This record gives sequence, structure tokens and C-alpha cells, in this order.
Amino acid sequence: MAETVKLIYGNKEYELPVVEGSEGEKAIDISQLRATTGLITLDPGYANTGSCTSSITFMDGEKGILRYRGIPVEELAEKATFKETVYLLINGKLPHREELTRFSVLLNDNSLVHEDMRAFYENFPRSSHPMGILSSMVNALRSFYPELQNLDEEINMTVTRLLSKIRTLAAMSYKISRGHKVVYPRPDLAYCANFLNMMFDSPVRPYALDNDVVNALRVFWILHADHEQNCSTSAVRLVGSARVNLYAAISAGIAALWGPLHGGANQAVIEMLNDIAQNKNMGQAIERAKDRKDPFRLMGFGHRVYKTYDPRARIMKKMCDSLLDKLDLTDPLLDIAKELEMVALKDDYFIEHNLYPNVDFYSGIVLRAIGIPTNMFTVLFAIGRLPGWIAQWKESLDDPNWKLGRPRQIYTGPTQSKFIPIDDR
Ligand code: CMC
Repeated sequence: MAETVKLIYGNKEYELPVVEGSEGEKAIDISQLRATTGLITLDPGYANTGSCTSSITFMDGEKGILRYRGIPVEELAEKATFKETVYLLINGKLPHREELTRFSVLLNDNSLVHEDMRAFYENFPRSSHPMGILSSMVNALRSFYPELQNLDEEINMTVTRLLSKIRTLAAMSYKISRGHKVVYPRPDLAYCANFLNMMFDSPVRPYALDNDVVNALRVFWILHADHEQNCSTSAVRLVGSARVNLYAAISAGIAALWGPLHGGANQAVIEMLNDIAQNKNMGQAIERAKDRKDPFRLMGFGHRVYKTYDPRARIMKKMCDSLLDKLDLTDPLLDIAKELEMVALKDDYFIEHNLYPNVDFYSGIVLRAIGIPTNMFTVLFAIGRLPGWIAQWKESLDDPNWKLGRPRQIYTGPTQSKFIPIDDR
């Protein structure tokens, strides 16, 4: 018999159905709560609220598990290409060889960006943050690539354009911000290599692709490809629920990701490590993070869902070590990060609060080794997260239980009051 939960309110008893997921996690279905009881739920930050059912990504925050369409992220990071991972997330299965070839051809054919868009870049102030620029440019794509009549064709084209052009847009913003010539995508290069070449090739210094660097970017992007109902994905779903076009929904996701508590943490971690390196104030940083009156937090530490070591951080840390070793690089920030982790993990505050390094703690050091400037770190996260946003948006589009996203509230303001004319106030 299906499980239910009993709710006693006033002198009445209500029975609420329990929904069970394929991995055994359970939720109380409250979709009829207000209609039957007059009550709503109150859950700031939605920490106890499931906003949808989803078959894309499974996370177990207590055990440190992350799987895309059932496949452990560790296995994908070891064996898959980023393109295969993108296909898996969006289409629900790994591609056959012909499917992958067709997908690659489509990505190649759509990799150019309308030349008129270059004028936009030139008019942003030089100090603009690349995340703001990326969010605007993705939104602007709708004006350059208007809606097609056939819905399936429209969705496929928009998805392909976004996946392909986001790399070109991101690399263009970097080149133009430096006052350098834009490098176009190349048909002979795969997804990750193509992006690196657009970022770093120059007429005076041709970019020599390094397999270890390409591999590091592949792993970085796979680790960021989806993370179920996080802040930016929920933004994409919520904005998308108003049935805006996909470019606008993704643009909202990019804006949400920019925040330092979310994707912007990868930039904030490096800024924090730099500060510790310069001012030799690790002890002070730890004490400030523990002080509830101080808003300072240890960036790259803690997670809403993971109450153990983030599985992505484990892979990232290992890759960080091996990449620096292979490239024969040393980064003083890596030593500081490791020491900070060691000190924090032995500290009662961090133990009691279940605070462990998250994906952003070591990712910045990997990106620095690749040559990515700090203000582009979150842009790299956005390119990686794009397939997840698209997959979640598509899933919401096909959901038979789809509804416009519209939370309620408990009003705490003044009760009905009279308007007082300005001279009588
Ligand atoms: N440093 C110090 N204390 C922390 C930290 C931290 N990084 N993270 C959480 N806490 C404390 C917090 O002060 C609170 O303490 P108390 O209960 O004594 O008041 C307790 O832990 C719970 O914090 P919370 O903010 O209610 O927990 P949350 O689940 O909402 O936090 C978080 C998640 C990511 C916002 C938070 O851990 C944080 O701010 N971390 C730093 C920013 C960061 O690294 N963000 C990247 C997240 S991973 C990438 C991604 O998926 O976006």
C-alpha cells in the first residue's frame, strides 16, 4: 500500500501521499494542501522543498554521490568526452558513434557568432565583469536567431546554437577585453581544444595545444555539467516556467550563477587564498569564518546538499596535483589551500557544521594552471553547467505536471490602512 503522512490540524485529520524516487528518497506530496486545509508551507531557501521530479541527476549529500543519468561522475570524468556528457544529460542516453558524429557536425556548423554582435562587446566598459557580458550576450542571441515555426526544430536549433556559441561568445569577450583580435572556431578541433584555441591563439604566438591542459578542461566541464536543483538551475526552471524563450531562461541562469555563494565562489576562493598569501592571515580567516557576527565565510567550503566531502572536489584536488606536476608548475596558492583544508577539517566548528571543501575550492587553481584569468572562472563554470540547464529546462517542458512557478508567502506587513494625503502626514 502506498505510504501516506497524517496531518492533524484543528479537529481534522488529513492524509498526504508520500512520493518515492528511484533511489529511495521520499517526499510528502503537498500539492493539494492549500485546497484541502487552507495552509501553505513555509521553507526559506527551499531547503526542504522538492520543486519537481527529475530523472537527470542524482545526488546523495550524506554519502557524497553524484550521478548523471545513473552514471557516476567519477566514471564520466575518467572515460567520457565532454560532448558525450552533454549528449547524455540532454538526451538521456550516451550517443552511438553516428549520433555523436551528427552532433559534432551540428556544433561545428553553429559555432560562429553573428558578426554584428561584436559591436556590443566593444561598447561594454572595459571593467565589466565577463559574467554580466555573457548573460547579456546570451539573451541578445534571440534577436539574431528569431524563433522558428516548428517547435521541435526550434528547440533543437536553439539548444545546438547555445551549446556551440557559448564558447565562442566567452572567448570573444576575453579577446575583446584585452583589445586583441578575435579567434574563430576551427572545424578540426574538438569541443574543449577549440575553446582553448579561441582563448589563447594569437597572430604573434600560435597556441600549442597541450593534451594535459585539454584533459583538465574536459574534466572541469564534466564535473560542472549538472547538479540537480541548485540556485541557477532553479532560476532557469522558474524563468522558463513563464514560457520565455530558452536564451532568456539561460541568461537568467548565468546571472544566478555569478553570485559568490554559487558559481562565483571559484573566483572568490582565489581572491581569499591570495589575501591569505599576501597578509599571512590564515588563522584570522578561520576565526572570522567561525564568528557568527562576521559575514565572512571560508569560500569553497560548505554546501547546501553535501554534508560530506564533495565528490567533485575530490576529483578536482587530485587533478590539480597531477596537472601541476605534468606541467611542471608550482602554485603557492595550492599549498595554502591544502593547509587551509587541513586546519579547517580538524577544527570543531567545521566538523560540527559538516563543512568540507566543495567543487570550487581547488577548481580555481586548475584554471590558473590552464591560463584562465580569474575574472573568467565563473564563465568557465557557466559553459560547463549549460548542458545541465538545458536538460532541466527540456525536462520541465515535457513534464505533464508542469505549472507556472509561483511560490506563495506569509504576509507580515501592515493590515489595511488609509491613504494619508501628503499635507496631512
Ligand atoms: N564558512 C563558515 N561557516 C559556514 C560556511 C563557510 N563556508 N558555510 C556554512 N557555514 C555555516 C553557517 O555560518 C551556518 O552556521 P550557524 O548554523 O552556526 O549559523 C551553518 O554553516 C549553515 O549555513 P547555511 O548558510 O545555512 O547553509 P547552507 O546550506 O545554506 O550553505 C553555502 C551553503 C554554499 C551557501 C555555504 O556553505 C557557503 O556560503 N559557502 C561558501 C560559498 C561557497 O563556497 N559556495 C559554493 C558552493 S558549491 C558550488 C555550487 O554548487 O554553486
